[in-house]
Amino acid sequence: MRNILVTGGAGFIGTNFVYYWLAKYPEDHVVVLDALTYAGNRENLTEAETNPKFKFVHGNILDQPLVESLLKNHKIDTLVHFAAESHVDRSIHGPDEFINTNIVGTHTLLKTAKKVWLDENPRPHRFHHISTDEVYGSLKPDDPPFAENTPYAPNSPYAASKASSDHLVRAYHETYGLQTSISNCSNNYGPYQFPEKLIPLIITNILNGKPLPVYGDGRQIRDWLYVDDHNLGVDLILEKGNAGEIYNIGGNNEWTNIDIVKTICNLIHERVSRNKDLLKRYPNCTSAKGNHPQTLITHVTDRLGHDRRYAINAEKISSGLGYSPAQSFETGIRKTLEWFLDKEDWWRRIMDGSYSKWIAVNYDDPK
Ligand code: NAD
Ligand code: TYD
Repeated sequence: MRNILVTGGAGFIGTNFVYYWLAKYPEDHVVVLDALTYAGNRENLTEAETNPKFKFVHGNILDQPLVESLLKNHKIDTLVHFAAESHVDRSIHGPDEFINTNIVGTHTLLKTAKKVWLDENPRPHRFHHISTDEVYGSLKPDDPPFAENTPYAPNSPYAASKASSDHLVRAYHETYGLQTSISNCSNNYGPYQFPEKLIPLIITNILNGKPLPVYGDGRQIRDWLYVDDHNLGVDLILEKGNAGEIYNIGGNNEWTNIDIVKTICNLIHERVSRNKDLLKRYPNCTSAKGNHPQTLITHVTDRLGHDRRYAINAEKISSGLGYSPAQSFETGIRKTLEWFLDKEDWWRRIMDGSYSKWIAVNYDDPK
């Protein structure tokens, strides 16, 4: 039985992780610490909050006394650290919060874990740090995919802040013997993803009949993984992986952005144009007006320093821990689309709120 502290558990991947973990390990206690930034949503966890083994705490990972009291009062033995500023475009417009949360915040967690788990009352523990493939930089078309020993070469302020936090986690293991592990995962998609990221942005813009912004030529490549396949990888690392190890997690699923956008257009057109209920619920969807959503595709100014290609070599976690994603892109994207069709209230509240204000201030391009 574990007592787990999940930081950032009201965000996209953290929310999915909480439901994954409570369903798979019903004996475990799960505490979420989340500052509820623009990306955090307590309502995501409404169902979890009916479970007596679950507790939500509204607070910041930078608050060392709070983190210390949670580790002690809830007898936490496992910390899974998702909390971060996570959007590359926001890091380009304003890097400071990325430095505070991703670097200083991670260090606050590390030094508090060291104090409680090593210095004051030594006990078995694990600190698992959730990181990204973006720390490795950008690949050329024929380069081999990122492996765990690929040199770090982060290009955006977001990637640089995550790279820094990875180095701090490694240093706390090497210097003090903190029992850490790190996973570097490719692009996730699925339920609860904030609609500023490519896939939910494209789905919701099609349903609203708004332009689909494709940065530059749209030929940039990402490796896409269904969110619960990321959580499966983290589960295997916690159950079977050794402290001090780093694992890359990926879907062996490289797509250009323009092909992702066209695929989502086709799926929505097929799903909405034949369904009376959906046609009524989404009257602004191009398919409801007899047009194909691909007519909404709009090439806009490219992202500064835009990484051209990410790809993951997941051999270490596959052969070492028996990892294999459960969803193909075909099944994962359909599940995701159904979730967004069903949860219109969830994404409308977000799009009509802080998100629309941020877009208005920071973008000239149509969104
Ligand atoms: P997200 O932006 O959806 O959620 C981040 C959560 O962290 C939010 O709930 C937010 O309120 C919380 N948070 C932010 N600052 C905080 C602070 N100072 N204290 C406490 N809570 C704070 O992010 P996500 O997409 O779920 O990503 C989660 C983690 O996974 C991040 O570390 C990210 O770098 C990593 N990651 C994401 C992807 C992806 O494709 N989304 C891929 C690989 C790795
Ligand atoms: P994003 O979802 O922001 O993830 P990341 O930058 O972490 O990979 O973007 C995925 C890709 O889609 C990336 O190459 C940028 C591109 N993109 C667009 O072309 N248009 C958009 O509106 C967004 C948000 C992203």
